[in-house]
Amino acid sequence: PCNVVVLISGSGSNLQALIDSQSDSNPARIGAVISNRADAYGLQRAQAAGIPTQVLSHREFADREAFDAALMAAIDAFQPDLVVLAGFMRILTPGFVRHYQGRLLNIHPSLLPRHKGLDTHNRAVAAGDAEHGCSVHFVTEELDGGPVAIQAAIPIRPDESVAQLTDRVHVEEHRIYPLAVRWFAEGRLRLGEQGAMLDGEKLPVSGHL
Ligand code: GAR
Repeated sequence: PCNVVVLISGSGSNLQALIDSQSDSNPARIGAVISNRADAYGLQRAQAAGIPTQVLSHREFADREAFDAALMAAIDAFQPDLVVLAGFMRILTPGFVRHYQGRLLNIHPSLLPRHKGLDTHNRAVAAGDAEHGCSVHFVTEELDGGPVAIQAAIPIRPDESVAQLTDRVHVEEHRIYPLAVRWFAEGRLRLGEQGAMLDGEKLPVSGHL
């Protein structure tokens, strides 16, 4: 099995999708969920599934370096094969990212490299984009800039609200994140020298699903 530690900050709907994807045929096993916020609803989702949880509040540390050092120690206590960021809303230090190089995945609510950062749904609509979506990527030192493993693209409907679009992107997130995590757990997805590799082939960033 592949031991997965999931980091969250909020609702944890992506965590729920990962929990729901666990099965005898899936080697991915969520060994722990860590949140930087005590009130994250995702903690309740983990507890309901019998998964150990831990809260590590960034406010209790003097700076980002100190928080990340404590976070690394907390994660490594669970000896993960993979660390999954699922709505974890903290910027990570280069040292943290390097420590988990090749075993750290994130989901971002846009078709990267478009719309890095926050407020992606509003920005996609405001820009008049024809399509929007989400990306699972390996985390590197460049914020939201690591090699993409999988994307899901949907057309933006002319009459829909940003809230409706957000919900539709969430549906896609809940589909592709469990898939990418499973691929990694099966040894099919890895970070190579030139980017993300699936079954030994380099993944193109334009590889929508
Ligand atoms: C998700 O939409 C995820 O893509 C986004 O936060 C949301 C968390 O929802 N992540 C980022 O914006 C990362 N910068 P969830 O807690 O329900 O999974």
